[in-house]
Amino acid sequence: MEMVINNQKTTKAIMTLQKKAEQCSEHIRKHSSALVVSHIDADGLTSAAIMCKTLERAGIEYRTRFLKQLDMVSLRDIADRYPELVIFTDLGSGMLEVIKSLRLNAVILDHHMPHGTYEYHLNPHLFGINGATEISGSGITYILSKALGYNNDLADLAIVGAVGDLQHMKKGQLVGVNRTILEDGAKSNVLRYEKDLLLFGKQTRPFFRLLQYSCDPYLPGITGSEDASIEFLKKIGISHHGEKWRRWIDLGQDEKQQIVSALMQFCLSSGMSAGNVTRLIGEVYTLLREKEGTEVRDASEYSTLLNATARYDHADIGLAVCMGDRGKSYNEASILLNEHRKNLVEGLTLVKEQGMVMMENLQYFDSGNKIRETIVGIVAGMSSSFVINKNLPIIAFADSEGGVKVSSRGNYDLIRKGLNLGAAITEAAKAVGGTGGGHDIAAGAFIPKDAKNEFLKLLDGRIGTQIKIN
Ligand code: C5P
Ligand code: C5P
Ligand code: ZN
Repeated sequence: MEMVINNQKTTKAIMTLQKKAEQCSEHIRKHSSALVVSHIDADGLTSAAIMCKTLERAGIEYRTRFLKQLDMVSLRDIADRYPELVIFTDLGSGMLEVIKSLRLNAVILDHHMPHGTYEYHLNPHLFGINGATEISGSGITYILSKALGYNNDLADLAIVGAVGDLQHMKKGQLVGVNRTILEDGAKSNVLRYEKDLLLFGKQTRPFFRLLQYSCDPYLPGITGSEDASIEFLKKIGISHHGEKWRRWIDLGQDEKQQIVSALMQFCLSSGMSAGNVTRLIGEVYTLLREKEGTEVRDASEYSTLLNATARYDHADIGLAVCMGDRGKSYNEASILLNEHRKNLVEGLTLVKEQGMVMMENLQYFDSGNKIRETIVGIVAGMSSSFVINKNLPIIAFADSEGGVKVSSRGNYDLIRKGLNLGAAITEAAKAVGGTGGGHDIAAGAFIPKDAKNEFLKLLDGRIGTQIKIN
C-alpha cells in the first residue's frame, strides 16, 4: 500500500523539502526567543503546538499569537513590537512580499498558495507537493520540527491538523507526505490507523447519534431524527444494553459489520451512487496516548474540539489542550464544544430554511449576522450534503467587522473539470478591493460590504471560464 501511495516522485520531493527545512531550522537555532503566529483553526493550533514544543525542547523562549487572517494591519502590529524572530505557521505564504518590506526576521511554515518569495519559507507548493491534500500547516511544521531535533512523537498533532483540514477526504485516507508522517507516528507508537466507519463521534457519542448527526452522507429520513435513528438500529436487531446506549467503540466486530452493511444497503436503496456509499468507510486515526472514549483519542473529534476553541476567540484553551492539559483547559474546551455543535446545527437549519440562490456557475447563501464568520466555511462545507445541485460550488457570506467574510467550498468532480476556488476568489476579491486566498477545493475572502453583487458577478464569470477552458 505504502509503495503505491508514496511513489518515487513524492520521496524525492520530501527529500528536497527536508533540505529546505534544515536551512530554516539552522536559522531558528541562532535565536533565543521567537513569536509564533498562527491561524485560528485546528490546523493552525496544532501547527503552533508543534512549534512551541519544539522551541521548548531546543531551549528557545516563545510567545504566541493567533489570527483570523494575516493582513497588513496585523503584520504592521507585529513589526511594531520588534520581535527577535517571527515564526508564521499555517499562514504567511500569501504575504511574503509584505513580510519582506516590513523587514521582519521571519520563518514561514505554510501550505497555502505562495505569492512572492522569501528566504526562510517552507511550503509544499515550492516542491511540487499539493498543499490541499498531501500536507497541511501542521505537517510542514512537523517537518521543520524534525530538522531541529528528534521530535517524531509530535506526529500525532500533525495528523490531527491534516484531518482538521479534511486532507483525508479526497481518497478516504491520507496520502503523500501525510502518509510518511503517519508512518512516523505509527513507528513511535503514538498513533494507529485502520479502516472504519467514517461517521463522526465514534469515541464519545451513543452510536445512534452517529446516524442522527450524519451529514456526509446525508441519510434521508434518518439524519436529524433521533427516533428514526433508533428505529433503524432496532430493525436490524441492535439496541441498547440495559439503561445505556453504547458508543461505537463499545460494539463488537460483528455488530459493527452488521450496521455498516445495513447502512450501505439503505443508502443504495435511497438512490445514492455506489461511489458515495463507499464514502461511509475510510481510514480513521487513533491517538494511542489518549484515554479511550475522549475526543482527543480520535483525530477527527480532536480537530472539532480545537475548532470549538480558537474559532471563538479561545485559542489559548485549544493550545493548552494540544500542549497536553487534560484538566482545566480540556474541561473548558468541552464546554465550548457543546456551544460549537449547537451553532453548527443552527447554521445548517438556517441554510436549509433559507435555501441557495442559484447563479450560472455557483450557488450562494448570505447568513448576514446569523452565522459567525469564523464558522460559516464549516457550515458551507457541511451544507453540500443536502443541496439539490451538487454540480455548483457553494459560496457563503457572513457579516464581518468593516466588511463581509466570504467562504467557498467545491468538490473533487468540479476540480477535475478545472475549478480552482483559491484562484477565482483571489482575483474576484482583489478586483473589488478585498483580499482572498485558499485552495482549489476551499477558499475565502474579505470584501467591502457594498461589493457583494459585483463580487458575485465576477466570481461567477471566473468560475465559468475555469470550467469551460478545461
Ligand atoms: O486555512 P486552511 O488551509 O487550514 O483550511 C483548509 C480548509 O479547506 C478547511 O476549512 C477544510 O475544511 C477545507 N477543505 C474542505 N474540503 C476538503 C478539503 C479541505 O472543505 N476536501
Ligand atoms: O474561512 P474558510 O474556512 O472558508 O477558509 C477556507 C480557506 O481559505 C482556508 O484555507 C483559509 O485559510 C483561506 N482563506 C484565505 N483568506 C481569507 C479567508 C480564507 O486565504 N480571507
Ligand atoms: Zn491549514
